Amino acid sequence: MRYTKTLRANLLKGAARVLTVAAFLGAQGLSAQSIWEGGDVENGQGLFNANCASCHLVTADVLAAPGLAGIKDRWGSSDELLVQWIQNPQGAAATGDGYIKSLVDRYVGTYGWMSAQAVSADDVRDIMAYVQNPPDVAVDATADNGCINIDELPVEESNDSSTLWFLTLLVMFLLIAMSASGVNRALTNTLRERDGQAQLEDLGYLQRLRGWAWNNLVFVSIIGVFVVAFGVVKGYQGLMGIGVYEGYLPEQPVKFIHSVHVCENEVDCKYCHHSAYESKHAGIPSTNVCMNCHKAVKKGKRYGEVEIAKIYAAIGFDPETGTYVDGQGNNGYAAPQASFAGEPIKWNKVHNLPDHVYFSHQQHVVVGGLQCQNCHGDVETWSAGRIASVDHINTLVDKYPGLIELSKPTLTMGWCIECHNKASIDLASSEYYEEMHNRMKDDVRGNEELRRILEDDKITVKELGGWECSKCHY
Ligand code: HEC
Ligand code: HEC
Ligand code: HEC
Ligand code: HEC
Ligand code: HEC
Ligand code: HEC
Repeated sequence: MRYTKTLRANLLKGAARVLTVAAFLGAQGLSAQSIWEGGDVENGQGLFNANCASCHLVTADVLAAPGLAGIKDRWGSSDELLVQWIQNPQGAAATGDGYIKSLVDRYVGTYGWMSAQAVSADDVRDIMAYVQNPPDVAVDATADNGCINIDELPVEESNDSSTLWFLTLLVMFLLIAMSASGVNRALTNTLRERDGQAQLEDLGYLQRLRGWAWNNLVFVSIIGVFVVAFGVVKGYQGLMGIGVYEGYLPEQPVKFIHSVHVCENEVDCKYCHHSAYESKHAGIPSTNVCMNCHKAVKKGKRYGEVEIAKIYAAIGFDPETGTYVDGQGNNGYAAPQASFAGEPIKWNKVHNLPDHVYFSHQQHVVVGGLQCQNCHGDVETWSAGRIASVDHINTLVDKYPGLIELSKPTLTMGWCIECHNKASIDLASSEYYEEMHNRMKDDVRGNEELRRILEDDKITVKELGGWECSKCHY
């Protein structure tokens, strides 16, 4: 940057001679100030994220390239070559430098060539300052790096206690009624005995109960009305609400932690759940996807090698030799040979709509432009998958602008249709909608309903048919 500025100034002067001198001085400046000193860490972080982070992580060999930590020990003396490598890897390899040759031998077979980067020597200095001082990506697992891990969501109070109370009271009441009838009978018998009458016949409990109910008709009817009303309310709650899904968090076979991947290591949701953008399902990544990184990342800060070893066991990989059990030594991208009899990791499904409901991720994420967080909450702070509650999602409005606040429990029908009533469609987002909108505007005369819909120049999902039973039900 600085260099181009001088260049432009010189050009303005129009003196070719001065330009040569300036270029010479620029080059001098570079070799005088080592690439390892005086860089701006903060600027470097921005440059790294913009240019390098799509392939490199600082601390680990992941994604699509080796980690850059400790880079100075490997390149220390060859500043200019390093800059050249970054600006043009294949050109730098053509110099025949020994280290670069080893680099190419080691990585190009696996990752392919690094692409040429449009960064200046000054930019590289800043980037190197940053990668040598990585912002402790949770060196201490308990340190607060902003990637908190909510291991336990507050469990929703179960409102089933009301049922329990009701049943307890009912049983107590029956016991009292029965013993009362017993006492009553004993008293009557005593009276009859005194009066010299025959004893009451010895009836079964049920018969006695019937007799008692018959004698206390009003009281029994009141109880009956209560029981029926209670059943109706419970049934209604069962249909509408349901809220039973919220907070659901089953055990998983591997202690996969979303926050370690999404927040600490900035892996996008798309990397693992890419089908959310292409199909109905978001899907769970196959073990091969884990191996893209875990072929190299063999240890975690929390569980050491234990949990990652389960991935190896599932796919048949020997971390000692870095080869698959089938002996083919594949590079982690291709599926292992079928000859290995490992069990795929069996993740437990967390979200599960009933079979009669149709839901498509692509429709919501791509066409509707919704953020995952609008329905799943702040996944980057999660450990394993769980069902977020609306209350949790509503706390995220500041963190994720554009989030639609809702009130009905997630995954219930009330939740879907509440959002369809609130969410409006960005008509400019698609030529189809835009054209339809314009055509509707022409048709609007005399059509009261259309006029009302178009009044606010906003069309909700509901107005487009998002409340029609058949859209969501097979
Ligand atoms: C398209 C992916 C990609 C991007 C973007 C990328 N690199 Fe690379 N980089 C690689 C790969 C792959 C290698 C390993 C060598 C090879 O296969 O070409 C590598 C190797 C390197 C190395 C040598 C590593 C070592 O251990 O000596 C350095 C240094 C480097 N990259 C720096 C950068 C910098 C700085 C940026 C950003 C300005 C960057 N790379 C952007 C893919 C990339
Ligand atoms: C894009 C790269 C990448 C992918 C893909 C990936 N991981 Fe990881 N994983 C990492 C990194 C980086 C760490 C951090 C290691 C550490 O704790 O420093 C990690 C850590 C872990 C840990 C250990 C956590 C700990 O602290 O002990 C487990 C378990 C794990 N991953 C499981 C998985 C599973 C299962 C998959 C596939 C569904 C997967 N990972 C996919 C990069 C990845
Ligand atoms: C409009 C709400 C909504 C949005 C936005 C949304 N999801 Fe979902 N997601 C759901 C529902 C509803 C289910 C349950 C689907 C089922 O059981 O058929 C689900 C299920 C899932 C599952 C379980 C696997 C599956 O396919 O059933 C994953 C993983 C997932 N979502 C990830 C994502 C990711 C990643 C994004 C963002 C790219 C996202 N979701 C955006 C509502 C949403
Ligand atoms: C490194 C891979 C990886 C990344 C990145 C990732 N996930 Fe996941 N996700 C998984 C795995 C593995 C599971 C299954 C285990 C579990 O439920 O925790 C899962 C489960 C889920 C579930 C629950 C699925 C179910 O069974 O209903 C949701 C929802 C989800 N992820 C959303 C997201 C969102 C949103 C993001 C981005 C913020 C994201 N994930 C990023 C690997 C990943
Ligand atoms: C956070 C808001 C939100 C939630 C929650 C939500 N949707 Fe949607 N839904 C949308 C938006 C926005 C669109 C419009 C996408 C478009 O432009 O076609 C849409 C469109 C649809 C469509 C297509 C409608 C049509 O007219 O073609 C169906 C079907 C659908 N949603 C089903 C569901 C189901 C089932 C649920 C609940 C499990 C659900 N949605 C929950 C926002 C939501
Ligand atoms: C936006 C999507 C959407 C629309 C529109 C919709 N439903 Fe639903 N419906 C759902 C979802 C999701 C569930 C599942 C809720 C649950 O499991 O708690 C459901 C559940 C139901 C159930 C309960 C069945 C059960 O499993 O308990 C009935 C009955 C029902 N819907 C009828 C209708 C009727 C009638 C209409 C039209 C007036 C309609 N639905 C429109 C999404 C929708």
